[in-house]
Amino acid sequence: MVVYALGDLVPDIADTAYVHPLACVIGDVKIGERVFVAPQASIRGDNGRIEIGDETNIQDGVVIHSDPAFVTRIGRRVNIGHNASIHSSYIGDGAAIGMSAVLMVGSVVAENCLIANAALLHPKTETEPYRVYAGVPARLLRDLGPDDPARRTIEKYVETYVRLTLDYPSRLVKIRD
Ligand SMILES: CC(C)(COP(=O)(O)OP(=O)(O)OC[C@H]1O[C@@H](n2cnc3c(N)ncnc32)[C@H](O)[C@@H]1OP(=O)(O)O)[C@@H](O)C(=O)NCCC(=O)NCCS
Repeated sequence: MVVYALGDLVPDIADTAYVHPLACVIGDVKIGERVFVAPQASIRGDNGRIEIGDETNIQDGVVIHSDPAFVTRIGRRVNIGHNASIHSSYIGDGAAIGMSAVLMVGSVVAENCLIANAALLHPKTETEPYRVYAGVPARLLRDLGPDDPARRTIEKYVETYVRLTLDYPSRLVKIRD
């Protein structure tokens, strides 16, 4: 994995997490247990701290960055889809951020919320738990109960990535440069 300290800012990555060698982790970053970080993800804690909770997955091309003195906190069992951008935001446990969604400075995604693919959360937008938000700018689309098919799909994604986290270290083999 490509992990950089920046002076005395040293990433703290749990032994059970998996960070792909083509991902980049810099500075003041804490990564919890069984977190999966896919190729081309950038988690850049050079300005403000970034914390990622247990069993969260950060998919390909995701960008996470923090403003100075701001702590970007991502909860447990959060699914962050391909190419999402998270900038100085808070994401509660069990939330899902769809592919290419953008979370701007100070936005707050409540627990078990789903932010739809390609949604844009304006700065300081705050969502309510167990809801779906979509669009540009993101607006409430509907409720998201525990038995909702979208909820079950998210849980399957989370389980898949926890399994890959345990699987990759022993089975991923580079076969060509
Ligand atoms: C938001 C989401 C849950 C909606 O699914 P749904 O409840 O089945 O909704 P539907 O597809 O029936 O669409 C309902 C309405 O929402 C709109 N909508 C759906 N997805 C939207 C999106 N991403 N942005 C804007 N509007 C959206 C539809 O156009 C439709 O509008 P209408 O009622 O005016 O026709 C789903 O589109 C989604 O984005 N899932 C996220 C998947 C994900 O996390 N992927 C990551 C994989 S790693």
